[in-house]
Amino acid sequence: MARYAAIAGTGSYVPETVLTNFDLEKMVDTTDEWIRKRTGIVERRISDGDMATSDLAVRAARQAIKTAEVDPLDVDMIIVGTVTPDTLFPATGCYVQQGIGAKNASAFDLSAACAGFIYGLDLADGMIKSGRYDTILVIGGEVFSNILDWTDRSTCVLFGDGAGAAVLRGTDEPTGIIASYIGSDGDNADIDLLGVPAGGSRLPPSHETIDKKLHSIKMSGREVFKLGVRIMPESAQRVLEQSGLTIDDIDLLIPHQANLRIIEAVGERLGIPREKVYVNVDRYGNTSAATVIIALDEAIREGRAKQGDNILLVTFGAGLTWGSTLLKL
Ligand code: UT7
Repeated sequence: MARYAAIAGTGSYVPETVLTNFDLEKMVDTTDEWIRKRTGIVERRISDGDMATSDLAVRAARQAIKTAEVDPLDVDMIIVGTVTPDTLFPATGCYVQQGIGAKNASAFDLSAACAGFIYGLDLADGMIKSGRYDTILVIGGEVFSNILDWTDRSTCVLFGDGAGAAVLRGTDEPTGIIASYIGSDGDNADIDLLGVPAGGSRLPPSHETIDKKLHSIKMSGREVFKLGVRIMPESAQRVLEQSGLTIDDIDLLIPHQANLRIIEAVGERLGIPREKVYVNVDRYGNTSAATVIIALDEAIREGRAKQGDNILLVTFGAGLTWGSTLLKL
């Protein structure tokens, strides 16, 4: 009998500290008007002092586990999509395991930038379908504020911190992940396009890397914009084809929340009405791997995503990496 990976519960957490566009006006040469017009972002959340990615992820995970009514000891695997791990190693997944008391799980991190959560869903889907695992916690979590150059107006206004989590459970019912697709393009693994140059084995930390601010995110915004607008609709189309559904069957589209103009362009290219497109980039900015799962969790809690609905998640990020998931809630 075919196995499916159902979404048993979701959770999310964003830090309490709000950084508005007006706050940023005092930090760099920017304006609230520019940021709103070019990105749709009004404010974002910033992690307080010593809070790392696992601290946000644990809070989101606890909520997801509670909603799913799952005992942490029944979690078989923890996958954390992140490019801002607490430490290079141990994995952030292991800190989350400790934080939620999931003693029987295997835990690891998945590096696929903004596509990290969708990659995690794809992996979990395969693991559950194979019959080897039954209950998998997939998390997208980031503390981007710690890898931003707060003097670079072209990047520091765009990102925020947050985490989201989903518990996936095996079922014989045709529900949960209906179709899934992930892709990448190493020809665009270009540090100038989007990435953090230093801190890895290529360019280990030194006084020079710190002086040159090479531990912060670098991005060619305009190029990334064009790639996102092209790749996301193509990726979404792949899962629609896989599932035999059309865009008219979709109740809610949750695109990666990087920029309102990208979100609108993706919606238009897919031909879905605006009211079926979920947007929270205005409140959180781009939380990288966390955007789509924070949005899904909010949509469920607000009643915008209901049981039986077809939800289309689509994302895109550095690597390049991208992916789409078609869910039946
Ligand atoms: O998660 C995936 C990764 N990220 C993305 O998907 C982001 C993709 N890119 C974008 O969202 C947009 O390209 C940005 C929001 C980053 C930039 O918008 P844009 O319309 O592409 O602007 P631009 O980079 O072409 O810059 C236009 C002008 C420039 O000035 P000049 O050269 O025209 O005089 C910039 O220097 O805007 C200037 N600028 C700013 N001005 C005020 C850049 N950043 C700012 C700023 N405030 N924060």
